[in-house]
Amino acid sequence: MDRYAVFGHPVGHSKSPQIHAAFAAQTRQALTYEAIEAPLDGFAAVLRDFIEHGGRGCNVTVPFKEDAYRLANCCDELARQAQAVNTLRVEPDGRLAGFNTDGIGLLRDLTQNLGVTLAGRRVLLVGAGGAAAGIVGPLLAAGLAELVIVNRTPQRADELARRFAAHGPVRAAALQAPGSAFDLVLNATAAGLGGRAPDLPATVFSPQTVAYDLVYGPAAGPFLALARQAGAGACHDGLGMLVEQAAEAFWLWRDIRPATAPVIAALRSA
Ligand code: ATR
Repeated sequence: MDRYAVFGHPVGHSKSPQIHAAFAAQTRQALTYEAIEAPLDGFAAVLRDFIEHGGRGCNVTVPFKEDAYRLANCCDELARQAQAVNTLRVEPDGRLAGFNTDGIGLLRDLTQNLGVTLAGRRVLLVGAGGAAAGIVGPLLAAGLAELVIVNRTPQRADELARRFAAHGPVRAAALQAPGSAFDLVLNATAAGLGGRAPDLPATVFSPQTVAYDLVYGPAAGPFLALARQAGAGACHDGLGMLVEQAAEAFWLWRDIRPATAPVIAALRSA
């Protein structure tokens, strides 16, 4: 059977095996999908072993997305922009093709599942690490009026904004003074993993604001609580993005698009 996996460290909490098992059942594809924890300095070796033992493709999560980008023999434009790969596909000739489906996953969740319009909107992106870098290109391609990037370490926000300056109206600002009443505020920081919200002023939110955390579950709690207290009109975690980026990877591997809504609903009710 064709073998797929998600690589991370840690990876035990990953919902990807459950998501891809649901996609495979729904589309009647015969495949296996497992979670593999690679040692922090040993991703390349574990990946090689996986491919030698029937691996056809994999997802890559924290902290190996940059390693995967370097290991890929060729990459799509979004992976090149992000300098990070979250999906690898083993080609028939053995070459490794790298993709980044995070931005597509976010955009699908926002626009198709949640009905958020992006064209002409003012968006605040909080964070400037790997997760943020993966979504800037697709957000700008959606025709925003303005993308403001803020980060605890301001230099990283400056660098990220500069890297994408040719792609659309993007600028960096100070975390404590980003501007007010954004249409969409995206949290791409790791603060929630430590039980904290980024140190944002309440004025970034308004009753028209959609607040969205790229992570799901309890880690999204602190940011979404801050947004709710500050009067944001709608608050969402990143579960839908997770399922949508997985669906894009599934399509890249199997050339068939699974329905995402029943999988999101099943994960929510669990
Ligand atoms: P990832 O790949 O998950 O984005 P990363 O590249 O380490 O991981 O980036 C983590 C992001 O979360 C960064 O923007 C980081 O801010 P710094 O650049 O200042 O480190 C941000 N972050 C982590 N903990 C945070 C906290 N407690 N408050 C605000 N931002 C935080």
